[in-house]
Amino acid sequence: MKIWAHRGCSQRYPENTMLAFEKAAELKGLTGIELDIQLTKDGEIVVIHDERVDRTTEGAGYVKDFTLSELKRLHIYADENPAQSIPTINEVLDLLQDRMKGGLKLNIELKNSVNPYEGMEEKIVELIGRYGLQENIVYSSFYALSLEKLREIEPQAEIGILDTKVSDCLYKGKGGCGAKALHPCWQGIDLSPEKLQGYTVRAWFSGHLYPEKPTGTKLDLDVLEKRGITDVFLNEPERYLLV
Ligand code: G3P
Ligand code: CA
Repeated sequence: MKIWAHRGCSQRYPENTMLAFEKAAELKGLTGIELDIQLTKDGEIVVIHDERVDRTTEGAGYVKDFTLSELKRLHIYADENPAQSIPTINEVLDLLQDRMKGGLKLNIELKNSVNPYEGMEEKIVELIGRYGLQENIVYSSFYALSLEKLREIEPQAEIGILDTKVSDCLYKGKGGCGAKALHPCWQGIDLSPEKLQGYTVRAWFSGHLYPEKPTGTKLDLDVLEKRGITDVFLNEPERYLLV
């Protein structure tokens, strides 16, 4: 089973922050890190899950209505660790690029289902090209038209099709994005392992995010693997890997 850090190490540290990504980058045996991107009012790519800043910062409103410098004034509190800010994708790439050149992957989820950010696909593909990290990126989105657009502008891109059920991921794949990687919720495996053969199936988990306290329960990864799952996005990958 391949293990990814979902929004960084997001159970013990605030999700999608430099702190959560630094902690993930220290893990030996980690396959990759997943993060979410949105666009600011002035067209900058920032790393934040929600369309709004309300849940993770002291601010209120949509990311798309803030300029980058306005967003940077907001805080993401992290207990005894220094308060974090919403990172730009450039800051995250600067942090991770050496590890990525050593094989670490980055799954960039384009959060464009609610706000279909004009030009987001071109911007991120162009930036990744500038860093020379094309081989290390998996792009994903819940929005099928965005996946098709990514395929069109970056024919070699590795794309993961997001949906809740794996059957819906497969159905979206029959469109124009030509992806072989399915990214369903772990509870959405509604096809037999035989039907999933030949696909990369990266399953995501929701809940148990910082500041919620870690739970005692541990997943049985063997059971998930038997169901056809090849990779998992975990909020607490450090429980399954060595530091
Ligand atoms: O990319 C997998 C997963 O992150 C999708 O759900 O809501 O955590 O972005 P969400
Ligand atoms: Ca995500």
